[in-house]
Amino acid sequence: MNVLLIGSGGREHALAWKLKQSLLLTKLFIAPGNAGTALCGINVPIAVDNFPALAQLVRSEKIKIVVVGPEDPLVKGISDYFKEQDDLRWVGVIGPDAAGARLEGSKDFAKQFMEKYSIPTARYRTFSVGKGNEQTAQAEAFIRSMNPPYVLKADGLAAGKGVVILNEPDQAVSELKDMFAGKFGSAGKKVVIEEFLSGIELSVFVLTDGDSWVLLPEAKDYKRIGEGDTGLNTGGMGAVSPVSFANEAFMDKVKERIIEPTINGLRASGIRYQGFIFFGLINVKGEPFVIEYNVRLGDPESEVVIPRIKSDLLELFAATADRKLKGLQLEISSESAATVMMVSGGYPGVYQKGLSISGLEAETGGIVFHAGTTVKEKKVVTNGGRVLALTSLDTDWKDALKRSYKAAEGISFEGMYYRRDIGFDL
Ligand code: AMP
Ligand code: GLY
Repeated sequence: MNVLLIGSGGREHALAWKLKQSLLLTKLFIAPGNAGTALCGINVPIAVDNFPALAQLVRSEKIKIVVVGPEDPLVKGISDYFKEQDDLRWVGVIGPDAAGARLEGSKDFAKQFMEKYSIPTARYRTFSVGKGNEQTAQAEAFIRSMNPPYVLKADGLAAGKGVVILNEPDQAVSELKDMFAGKFGSAGKKVVIEEFLSGIELSVFVLTDGDSWVLLPEAKDYKRIGEGDTGLNTGGMGAVSPVSFANEAFMDKVKERIIEPTINGLRASGIRYQGFIFFGLINVKGEPFVIEYNVRLGDPESEVVIPRIKSDLLELFAATADRKLKGLQLEISSESAATVMMVSGGYPGVYQKGLSISGLEAETGGIVFHAGTTVKEKKVVTNGGRVLALTSLDTDWKDALKRSYKAAEGISFEGMYYRRDIGFDL
């Protein structure tokens, strides 16, 4: 079977690495991929949202399964696009239609969905600004009626930067006005204001065919740039799996109160959903709440989740596309995984690209997943803020992490940085 994987980050390298091991795989194409995915298949220089060019590749290479890594093409309707082409309707796209992708593409839609299906989440209200719709005064009054901290979320996709948490009401009102004025473009013309939940976060993933679902290993990621979870938010600086507090009792609550009602709610809403659902959860004194939905796998969570899956991933994708997931058991390794993200100096602010990376050829005993890399003049160079994710497996996640830190010592590029305290709160 020929497969097209869309995306170019560490998540996609992890997916490509796993797909390459499948006995069902004939050829793997990655669009556009990175220097790591090039080791697993054929990189094709097509942008993730160039649907006509992707469709042409699927036709010419007789691709049966398209796996969509990032959210952007899903929100823009890549799955719908394939279904609209008469000759491509039978291609299995792993990723929801635009209607389902709104779970991630619109915070307001996600909140309404959770409210409708009684899925535990923070209390909220949504306010908009626009022609004939000025809710600034109401939003300000709402903020002033709440207890701090204040959580403001731009409704649309804002490259992971659309959530702002503030302690002072005046700051919150000023942030709201900035969002309404276009700080996040049209994504902030609608703003969800919600109650702050205090607890520890967890990422839970399922793969669903719309009827049945399989639970993937859970993970915890570390989003802030600085040690002790300080400083600016990033895409994620490291991750571990499994997560100790996600014990059976907690996960039973997650399944019963969150996963089942979400899958049933999607079906009841007439949304066809074949793909991953990423539940961004928070554990508040043993009770799970949804912070956000994503319609894809996490990054760097994938770099610890995927290596723990023993089952054939392509078999799972084919079953998802055929709506035959029911009864399939996922085999998961009992080993723990940890990953450490090596990032460019200056990230998540301004950083340089094109810096050469040394030490990649050394045997680390783990897996070096590429995130932001490319090949220039036959050399691997940096090509993004997050550059490499160093994953290791061991009996205990702490030992796995030690291996990743050891591997990090052997790799270098100018200005590189990584957090040395991944897992500090577990
Ligand atoms: P999101 O993009 O919705 O995941 O939000 C980014 C981060 O903001 C989350 O990972 C949480 O750390 C934090 N956050 C979002 N909503 C809340 C909330 N209601 N209470 C506490 N923290 C939150
Ligand atoms: N690591 C969080 C995310 O992928 O959104």
